[in-house]
Amino acid sequence: MHAACFTVDKPMMIGIIGRSGAGKSTLLRMLNRLTDATSGEISFDGLNVTGLRGSAKRSWQSQCAMIFQQFNLVPRMDVVSNVLHGTLNRRSTLSTMFNLYPDDDIHRAIDILDRLGMAAHAPKRAEALSGGQQQRVAIARALMQDPKIILADEPIASLDPMNAQVVMQSLRDIHEQDGRMVIANLHTLDTARRYCDRVIGMRDGRIVFDGTPEQLTTGTARDIYGADASFSESTTSTQIETSDAAARMMADIVAQ
Ligand SMILES: Nc1ncnc2c1ncn2[C@@H]1O[C@H](COP(=O)(O)OP(=O)(O)OP(=O)(O)O)[C@@H](O)[C@H]1O
Ligand SMILES: [Mg+2]
Repeated sequence: MHAACFTVDKPMMIGIIGRSGAGKSTLLRMLNRLTDATSGEISFDGLNVTGLRGSAKRSWQSQCAMIFQQFNLVPRMDVVSNVLHGTLNRRSTLSTMFNLYPDDDIHRAIDILDRLGMAAHAPKRAEALSGGQQQRVAIARALMQDPKIILADEPIASLDPMNAQVVMQSLRDIHEQDGRMVIANLHTLDTARRYCDRVIGMRDGRIVFDGTPEQLTTGTARDIYGADASFSESTTSTQIETSDAAARMMADIVAQ
């Protein structure tokens, strides 16, 4: 990471794009202090995040929840317990060992699952769900932390287009309804354009583009990806289309 300077004035939904190895994951990991930068500073609302140690660092990490491409759920554990894992950082070791969760937390976990259209799946093992469903459980687990920021590292890279759309729309809704900031590494241009208010383009550890989806022209995209004149947007596209099936799936979720 060399020159990665950006400022966010208000909660928004930001997409980070760039070819493999550009530094997208590293940037997210630095924001939540999973990786430390050798120099530079990250601050949030006047708080110097780079200087945090011990419990202050853990508190910051729970304020910026991470979501991963591979969901990172406990496969054999039921859905609601996976979501309750989102409260781990504020519970004692003893209550964790015996799986003792306060009733309030359990109710909140169910409410969050309900919001994501997943309440009916609460008793199932995580491994019994489809990829898209597992990612929604991972989002529920993140929400359980009541984070100010959600950092999503390629959240839809393992999903088919229909599930990808449902997961991206869930993140968008969370941003709009709760006012949480969402920063997502995305491997396709069309997803970044469609769901994000702002797009950051990275190349070789540097931020080389920072603007609105409208400003992200094909020529700019070509520069970000470092491609030659033969660059075609379709190579960075999953062609998410509003298929009837996806529309029905969203309608089901809203209806539940
Ligand atoms: N801890 C580290 N120390 C040194 N180099 C690292 C470390 N972590 C990652 N890198 C290197 O930094 C570069 C950026 O990696 P990063 O994983 O952030 O890329 P990315 O944009 O997320 O790529 P992808 O799209 O493949 O996920 C890579 O060249 C990688 O090998
Ligand atoms: Mg990555």
